[in-house]
Amino acid sequence: MSFKTLDDIGDLTGKTVLVREDLNVPMQDGVVSDDTRLRATVATLNELSDKGAKVLVLAHFGRPKGQPSEEFSLKKLAEPLSHVLGRPVSYIDWEGDKAAVAALAPGAIAVLENTRFFGGEEKNDPAVIERFASLGDIYVNDAFSAAHRAHASTEGLAHVLPAYAGRAMEAELKALQKALGEPERPVAAVVGGAKVSTKLDVLKHLVTKVDHLIIGGGMANTFLAARGVNVGKSLCEHDLTNTAEQILDNADKAGCTVHLPYDVVVSKEFAANPASLRTCNVHEVAEDEMILDVGPAAVEALGDALKTCRTLVWNGPMGAFETEPFDAATVALAKTAAALTKEGSLVSVAGGGDTVAALNHAGVAADFSYISTAGGAFLEWMEGKELPGVAALER
Ligand code: 3PG
Repeated sequence: MSFKTLDDIGDLTGKTVLVREDLNVPMQDGVVSDDTRLRATVATLNELSDKGAKVLVLAHFGRPKGQPSEEFSLKKLAEPLSHVLGRPVSYIDWEGDKAAVAALAPGAIAVLENTRFFGGEEKNDPAVIERFASLGDIYVNDAFSAAHRAHASTEGLAHVLPAYAGRAMEAELKALQKALGEPERPVAAVVGGAKVSTKLDVLKHLVTKVDHLIIGGGMANTFLAARGVNVGKSLCEHDLTNTAEQILDNADKAGCTVHLPYDVVVSKEFAANPASLRTCNVHEVAEDEMILDVGPAAVEALGDALKTCRTLVWNGPMGAFETEPFDAATVALAKTAAALTKEGSLVSVAGGGDTVAALNHAGVAADFSYISTAGGAFLEWMEGKELPGVAALER
């Protein structure tokens, strides 16, 4: 993996830098409800500003499909971004952008309007690439979480301007390289979540890469069913049991040990602390029960497996963690991983959708070696796919 970073960028006097960030943050009632992605921009934006460049932030917000609208405007993010950066951030509309950019002082930071207000952004249209490129001299991509998109602002620009990875992108790529690129072995992967169907490619890829594959969440039920276990009324994709069997076969051939739960937490209804809650062997699930978490004996065994590993990649919760007590397995295993990381015996990388919420819930996110803010991009990376935004930086 080789790409240029801000260390290679040289003198920025009089230069305008286009920085692709991911400002696609969750908002509730007009307020940013999780500013993790804003905080991820600080290192790059402040460094470029300190070096005297005019800093233009390019980003998308939501999926406006080429239609400008108030709802998807990035205007509302200039103030929250300024708050996080601790310095002024102005907003530049696509009308009059050239004059507004020319008027910026060295070191100034401005957010340009949503790149997806141009229909050609998502088509990687050369005219839109040119439109963006005409505003700056240098391109910095700092948005790993949008790097699975081959869009004008995430991929196209890297071909027409000198291109560099920003600090967040650099940190992400280095962490991911350590986790699956050239990891210290043995490597474990935890893959959880509701459905096998959403992570088939992840599972297929991982069995060829890791030594231990720990499957949890609803998707474990499909694998249990493939092994002939009666999973009662658990969430289960019965039409995918053949695929699950194939994955288990491939794991065998590749020397990857697949860990499925052998005890489970079940209930007749899905509710917090239900009266019918019990823990049992996977072979004792009744017809009217559903599996909602991995059981304590299995969690202990999984913890022991992690103790033999040097690297861990984690995506997805082990049970229905948002409802107590079905968070127990996720919390316990996350705590073991965090403790091993703190001790220095494990490199732990986690990412994707619910995962960060689950690790925050367990109170251990800060103890993992690296937590990715990416959703779709993290999954595609776990599938072993080339991410266009990253590939363009490597060229
Ligand atoms: C994300 O939120 O995962 C990224 O910003 C990508 O957004 P998209 O799925 O709309 O391309």
